[in-house]
Amino acid sequence: MNILVLNGSPRPKANTKAHIEAFKEGAEAKGHSVRVFNVGNMKINGCLGCEYCHTKGDGACVQKDDMQEIYPYLANSDMVVIASPIYYWGFSGQMMSLITRFYAPGRPAADKYALFLSSGSPGVYDAPVSEYKSILKFFGATNMGIITAYGDQNQSEEKLKEFKDFGLSL
Ligand SMILES: Cc1cc2nc3c(=O)[nH]c(=O)nc-3n(C[C@H](O)[C@H](O)[C@H](O)COP(=O)(O)O)c2cc1C
Repeated sequence: MNILVLNGSPRPKANTKAHIEAFKEGAEAKGHSVRVFNVGNMKINGCLGCEYCHTKGDGACVQKDDMQEIYPYLANSDMVVIASPIYYWGFSGQMMSLITRFYAPGRPAADKYALFLSSGSPGVYDAPVSEYKSILKFFGATNMGIITAYGDQNQSEEKLKEFKDFGLSL
């Protein structure tokens, strides 16, 4: 499979990055191709709601920002992993902006999705998990797995193994 991983953390030595690297190691060992975008450090605006994409644009967004690098991968990936730190009980702002830009093509090509969430404390995942599930329902897509990690769990050997094993399970 071609797997697209969207990293919503702006921190280079972050927990989310460690989760993705462990996952990538497992998925690549199974022969999958994994492409990671560090969305947290890209210039991606939120959707303007201008409807250009659904009128004159014929599926193309009017905004020419870094999202243009990601659109081809959304069109050609079999699986999308949304990986984000929890910011104020939700996705990071960068990740949320990206999600609103799914609007132009209508839906990514992928039928399979996974969600990785990293936080400082436990019990803070309800809102993004609910949003993720609603998006999948809207796309008619399949959830392959949700992995959360908080505090010291984040880069623990046990948790990183869970991410790697998930990649190996695909
Ligand atoms: C702006 C901001 C908001 C945050 N909000 C929450 C929160 O609501 N709940 C929580 O448990 N942790 C919160 N955190 C902590 C991060 O989710 C946590 O440190 C996470 O592991 C960071 O991921 P990263 O290392 O991949 O960037 C927040 C951190 C920042 C910088």
